[in-house]
Amino acid sequence: MSRNVSVHGQWSSKAIFILAALGSTLGLGNIWKFPYLAGENGGGAFVLVYLLSVALIGIPIMMAEVALGRRARQSPVNTFDTLAWEQGASHQWRMVGGIGVLSGLLIVSFYSVVAGWTLAYLVRAVAGTFAGLGSGESERLFLDLVTDPERLLAWHTVFLVLVVMVLSRGVRSGIEKLVRYLMPVLFLILVLLVIYAWQTGKMGEGFNYLFAPDFQKLTPTSVLVAMGHAFFTLSLGMGVMLIYGSYLPSGVSIARGVCFIAVMDTVAALLAGLAVIPLVLANGLPLAAGPGLVFDTLPVAFGAMPGGYWFGILFFLLLFFAALTSAISLMEPSIAWLVESMDLPRLRAAIWVGILAWSLGIVTILSFSSWSFDFHFAGQLKTNGWYDGLDILTSGFLLPLGGLATALFTGWVVSRERLREQLGGEESLGFRLWYLLIRYVSPMAVVLIFLNVVGVL
Ligand code: TRP
Repeated sequence: MSRNVSVHGQWSSKAIFILAALGSTLGLGNIWKFPYLAGENGGGAFVLVYLLSVALIGIPIMMAEVALGRRARQSPVNTFDTLAWEQGASHQWRMVGGIGVLSGLLIVSFYSVVAGWTLAYLVRAVAGTFAGLGSGESERLFLDLVTDPERLLAWHTVFLVLVVMVLSRGVRSGIEKLVRYLMPVLFLILVLLVIYAWQTGKMGEGFNYLFAPDFQKLTPTSVLVAMGHAFFTLSLGMGVMLIYGSYLPSGVSIARGVCFIAVMDTVAALLAGLAVIPLVLANGLPLAAGPGLVFDTLPVAFGAMPGGYWFGILFFLLLFFAALTSAISLMEPSIAWLVESMDLPRLRAAIWVGILAWSLGIVTILSFSSWSFDFHFAGQLKTNGWYDGLDILTSGFLLPLGGLATALFTGWVVSRERLREQLGGEESLGFRLWYLLIRYVSPMAVVLIFLNVVGVL
């Protein structure tokens, strides 16, 4: 049952697929999450595990998702169903798609709250709040925001309404235009920020922190966090790449596009780290500040640098757009599934998913104030209650689990011929290497990391 076009539409070219996939992968994960995770988990060794996870687990699974999606041209739930049926395997594989829909909803519920922070900071940038800001004042500014549930709710609502508006217009008209021009500017801004951070005199120290591995700092939990982040930042394990693959025209090669996307995403994260960590050190801020790290640090830099007023506005504007294109992708699998299986019109499906994400988001909003609590997870202290819980549940558990199931399904259920058909048609060296990775290396790595955290190894 190999169709040529998905009922939801098709990308107009390969370049558009790459842009949309980049729009999905580049987001808060690179600029907000990566620096704070690197700060919390001790730097170098964590970064190394993250890079290895991208190469050995992320890239093979991304290729698998795109290939499966293009073969079945349906939402993740129905893609697994159809492909399992094709191979005479169990219907239960559709649960992998189902887990993906759930993960997407959970993630977008907190993603939208953080995206709301970028809007609040955009307003602050316009208002000139950062001029001459000290680091203590900056920390207080962040706390003021996150401990005010009403303000967070307002921004969360604004953000989700925007996402639903873009989504209801469909993938093509909605996403294509946003991504084309904004992503290159985002890279430029990151490079300029790194150059600015260079002048603080802490670049050497920051560089060492990020790239000189100290394996003593590596705990089973930080290995899990590093792998989980590879899934999060590459938008894997919940069917986003699968559904974007389902809109990909036949005959376009997958491998090179996927490698390009993964490399760009990684470069963006490393640039963000190289900008943020030296600035954290130069301003005497704590590296383990958690989700507030970037919001504590960058406004101080914008307040001090020449032209920082405009630069700050541009930065938060772009971060907002990067978050928008990622949030769109997080909701696309559930919307496509509602349209296919419940026969809902696209707009209605988008509104329903939006309402669900909005309600769930309240849990995250209150995590920073009235519902905040501390807990220990495998030896790490977590101070943001439900938000941390949701983050561990999704990045540490659901996404790797979805990825593991996808790898097993691809490597052991779908026939080699069908995969080869999607991935260039030949038994090339590249194909054989990929097949080895998806069949053995990626699933085993995920399982070992899970067992390591549970304490079995
Ligand atoms: N990758 C995005 C980021 O780094 C977030 C994201 C979009 C995502 N789609 C996803 C994360 C799917 C996990 C799964 O900001």
